[in-house]
Amino acid sequence: MCGIVAYIGPREAYPVILKGLKRLEYRGYDSSGVALLNGSGLQVHKKKGKVAELEETLQGKDLHSHIGIGHTRWATHGEPSDRNAHPHTSASGRLAMIHNGIIENYAQLKQDLINKGYTFHSDTDTEVLLNFIEDILKNNNSSLEEAVRIALKRVVGAYVIVLIDNETPDTLIAARKGSPLVIGIGKNEHFLASDASPIIEYTKEVVYVNDYEMAIIKPDELILKNLGNERQTPFITKLDMELAAIEKGGYDHFMLKEIFEQPQTIYDCLRGRLDATAGTITMSGVEKYAEQIMNANRIVMVACGTSWHAGLVAEYIFEELCRINVEVEYASEFRYRNPVINKGDVIIAISQSGETADTLVAIENAKAKGAIILGVVNVVGSSIARISDAGAYTHAGPEIGVASTKAFTAQLAVLTMIALKVAHMKGSIDQQRYIHLLKELDAIPEKVTRLLEQEEQIKKLAEKYKDAQDFLFLGRGYNFPVALEGALKLKEISYIHAEGYPAAEMKHGPIALVDENLPVVFIATKDSYHEKVISNMQEIKARKGKVIAIITEGDEHSTALANDVIVVPEADEIVAPMLSTIPTQLLAYYIGVAKDFDVDKPRNLAKSVTVE
Ligand code: F6R
Repeated sequence: MCGIVAYIGPREAYPVILKGLKRLEYRGYDSSGVALLNGSGLQVHKKKGKVAELEETLQGKDLHSHIGIGHTRWATHGEPSDRNAHPHTSASGRLAMIHNGIIENYAQLKQDLINKGYTFHSDTDTEVLLNFIEDILKNNNSSLEEAVRIALKRVVGAYVIVLIDNETPDTLIAARKGSPLVIGIGKNEHFLASDASPIIEYTKEVVYVNDYEMAIIKPDELILKNLGNERQTPFITKLDMELAAIEKGGYDHFMLKEIFEQPQTIYDCLRGRLDATAGTITMSGVEKYAEQIMNANRIVMVACGTSWHAGLVAEYIFEELCRINVEVEYASEFRYRNPVINKGDVIIAISQSGETADTLVAIENAKAKGAIILGVVNVVGSSIARISDAGAYTHAGPEIGVASTKAFTAQLAVLTMIALKVAHMKGSIDQQRYIHLLKELDAIPEKVTRLLEQEEQIKKLAEKYKDAQDFLFLGRGYNFPVALEGALKLKEISYIHAEGYPAAEMKHGPIALVDENLPVVFIATKDSYHEKVISNMQEIKARKGKVIAIITEGDEHSTALANDVIVVPEADEIVAPMLSTIPTQLLAYYIGVAKDFDVDKPRNLAKSVTVE
């Protein structure tokens, strides 16, 4: 949430920052801004709306500078507006700062500053922190670095901040706690960003800044220190990512590109781990904690949103194959409700971004109580990946569309492999079924390719149903979480109210909504619940609801009952959610497009929710 970019070096800073902000727009797009320093001093430009609007207002302006900071905002304190946009300028006009995070004790700090005569030009916590830093700078006659350090020791909350100072135009100062910060190292230049996507074009050498660290950055020098003023050795990592992965590559939207990448991303996720011929799954992270997982009394899956839905599917799979009790928790509830955690409990944290604040704090708390943390994370080097004891990356590549698609199916692939591995080690699955499931998993990328051939048909369905006011998504067993995910996708992208329900539970309330205007999407692939789902379909038909059924190819019975069908290739019920979820992604996408919405940047949302 909120994207930050900064540059120092021989290039023109503005084009680097502008391009970087466009790459980070998925993190928030309420407003954006840049601050640049040159011989004539500090210039700050900011604008409500998307980065393109800022770019337009800056057309033709002299923006020459070799040092600058930029920000794209997802509003927390203060409405989206020009005045609340970042960068903020300090009272004297000497400093400018960008911030991603929340300063929890800002109200007290603000009052103290008001008492000292400061006035504020925005409603943000950022302006408070900035003036707090400037106040220390003035009163202690200290360097900016020292003032930032003193201020951050008094701050409660999460932040990444980057400052530029009119009086030291060759230095950027940055610091992090809780929100992500990557520094790219070039030849006599440095790039700072919330993730690697603005950096990859210029350098593959990066440093992930740790919590409670500060960076003092000149074109040819990077100094890292902790808040105790001790030098830290920057740990340089090589990025394993190509520029093409963060570009649209001919698709109209990132979301569509990412939906169509799924045969490849699932393949990448299985590659090097699954060998269906040899009958092996290699996952070093899981192997390291094999004993603890096999003997765990329970496994707790902790996640938010779509990742939570992946956890729900995994609950069914783990309980079936491993015979281990699984609980699936919303991270935001788990972290605050004083859960019972015993030493040796196994927590699986699922997160695309690896930065979701609630998930991060939930596992920090659990770790402190002695739990073992396994991370199922997409973004390499992210905070959740780093705090986990072990885990498995999903290898889905950068997901830029705000609505999660390919990350979800990759999470399912990883979680299924973990379950199969544990079940095999534990002996809770017989060899024949184990080998059968390995082959089923191995066949998924090819089946997804076939399924995606129905794009045109799903597009037509989207046209047909785009004006519906509400949707119901129903499924049972492994497909119940798919129904939840389908409803979430539709809400996010088309702003149509949608609910996901276990198909049988529908009779206990939501059936009252059913009439001839209500489309009901049944996730009804052939599995052990199929006959029951057919009965539920009949109950909807009897009340004149419109049934859109996602069914297994060759299922004549369901075809006869439904108003419309989307056919998916046959697959074992354990792996079927990786297929049955894809038509719901395409349906949401094409309804959003038909309604002319910005599907990559749905209103009010942001990816990587780094505030609680
Ligand atoms: C929905 C979506 C969100 C995320 C949630 C968790 O399309 O993208 O619900 O799934 O914010 O994010 P991560 O997985 O990054 O922890």
